Amino acid sequence: MTSLLEVKNLQVDYVLPRGVVRAVDNVSFDIQPGEIVGLAGESGCGKTTAAHAILRLLRPPAEIGGGQVLFQGKDLLTLNIDQMRAYRWRHISIVFQSAMNSLNPVISIGDQFVDTFQTHEKLRRREALERAAELLRLVGIDPSRLRGFPHELSGGMRQRVVIALALALRPELIVMDEPTTALDVVVQRDILQQIQDLQKRLNFAVLFITHDLSLLVEFSSRIAIMYAGKVAEFAPASELFHHPAHPYTVGLMESFPSITGERRRLTGIPGSPPDLGRPPSGCRFNPRCPKRMEICPAIEPRLAEIKAGHAVACHLYPESTPRAGRA
Ligand SMILES: Nc1ncnc2c1ncn2[C@@H]1O[C@H](COP(=O)(O)OP(=O)(O)OP(=O)(O)O)[C@@H](O)[C@H]1O
Ligand SMILES: [Mg+2]
Repeated sequence: MTSLLEVKNLQVDYVLPRGVVRAVDNVSFDIQPGEIVGLAGESGCGKTTAAHAILRLLRPPAEIGGGQVLFQGKDLLTLNIDQMRAYRWRHISIVFQSAMNSLNPVISIGDQFVDTFQTHEKLRRREALERAAELLRLVGIDPSRLRGFPHELSGGMRQRVVIALALALRPELIVMDEPTTALDVVVQRDILQQIQDLQKRLNFAVLFITHDLSLLVEFSSRIAIMYAGKVAEFAPASELFHHPAHPYTVGLMESFPSITGERRRLTGIPGSPPDLGRPPSGCRFNPRCPKRMEICPAIEPRLAEIKAGHAVACHLYPESTPRAGRA
């Protein structure tokens, strides 16, 4: 079966006066039709950059340095602007990070839907509003809100509106970049539940981006862990939870928020992520790694399967050590 999305060796650079920051470095993962895949990692590890590269939303100083983004087998990186526009929103949509503040404050909720529809389809205003009403019902908001403005809605409601907008053209894939982070825990749960219900009904796939790994463990089928621009581990959610292989993943697990949902700073991993303009040699995690070995600063591990479906980039696993570097 063709993957819905296959990201292969993706590379994104920010070309800055002080030098090149490689924010996404040789990143590969796939999403199957109707699957929820999580992308997790600390702030600044390249999650949003990767997401924007997939939708071709990057602007200078960002540059795609290489790789492929295969959507149903077609490489989106080879499309021209018009061809790409035909994919965006209709086949892949995105809920932007801090999206609930991205609604235009001076345009009514209804008109934001009308604009979205009319950008992509020839549709009369009335028809667009009818479809908008249907979408609002789908996310649990009374269609009378179409006449209202964003400031009249709570944060949770605004976020639901943004999700409804992402659903508008029934895409096969929705990228959700931290869709619940700004919300309190109870609202966050409600929205996650709703996304899951909608996903079952409409069968779209989701790339769900968050720094909160505990959310993903319940919510996604597979999880990619990013560290400093690279995928450190990619595994089914339950496998990752019960048998995390990369010391970074283990550290993230130990940093889970407490059961009451109270937010804590990461306690499982000492130190902070590196400056991507000057990443450490070898394994990028080596300066913070409790399991560091001699080889780690010398040779970069590669992402390799240690079990069927479970890939990790760490020298603790011989599969990860390139042949020339093996003892
Ligand atoms: N516009 C920009 N110009 C220069 N560098 C940037 C820009 N945006 C991001 N970066 C660099 O790219 C790296 C990855 O940023 P990105 O926003 O993709 O991370 P993230 O994982 O989404 O973080 P967060 O969890 O905080 O949203 C950052 O470390 C930053 O140094
Ligand atoms: Mg981000």
